[in-house]
Amino acid sequence: MAGTGEVWPHLLERFPGLGAITAVDISTGMHLRAMQRLHAHRAHKIAFIEDDVLASDLPDASADFIVSTFGLKTFNREQHARLAKLVARCLKPGGVFCMIEASDPKGWWLRPLYLFHLKVMLPLVERMFLRGARDFAMIGTYSTNFGDASHVAEMLRGEGLEVEFKRFFFGCATAVAGRKPGVFAPS
Ligand SMILES: C[S@@+](CC[C@H](N)C(=O)[O-])C[C@H]1O[C@@H](n2cnc3c(N)ncnc32)[C@H](O)[C@@H]1O
Repeated sequence: MAGTGEVWPHLLERFPGLGAITAVDISTGMHLRAMQRLHAHRAHKIAFIEDDVLASDLPDASADFIVSTFGLKTFNREQHARLAKLVARCLKPGGVFCMIEASDPKGWWLRPLYLFHLKVMLPLVERMFLRGARDFAMIGTYSTNFGDASHVAEMLRGEGLEVEFKRFFFGCATAVAGRKPGVFAPS
């Protein structure tokens, strides 16, 4: 769910030795637009595969690492289970992964205010100031339906991966990170 590749600049800065990133997304159009508008100067570092990650035949043990930012919330639990299988199958032994998602900060005393911001203010501001854009129209509903990434952590563990569940900013985002057991042999 690489989308517009918001995470690529951070990966390349954090790991200067990184040879290339393979973006995987169901939408080639989204990828091409993002490459033209945002990433032309790093195009030599970005490869692309059009793929449906819910019905994927990406090769086994082919990825050194797998990263996803904000791609989980629109999937249901059965789809998360399929994704967990894909991550476990495609990682090389010793390969690492991290997936983060906007989440419902249950139990936080400012949750009602935060959800008002997500469900009302953010969509309103983007409609008013970004020429009627609706990118964030559903983010509040998606985030509350998603809950948090703890069930994804369980699914990944069930696939034999070592998994850490992380919460950020009172649970407004949650993540799963970890590795596939084994000795790492980078490409
Ligand atoms: C919310 S965006 C992710 C945002 C991304 N982090 C970015 O930098 O733009 C979700 C992305 O998942 C992609 N997507 C949705 N369903 C998918 C699927 N089944 N397989 C692969 N990509 C999918 C969409 O095309 C979209 O680019």
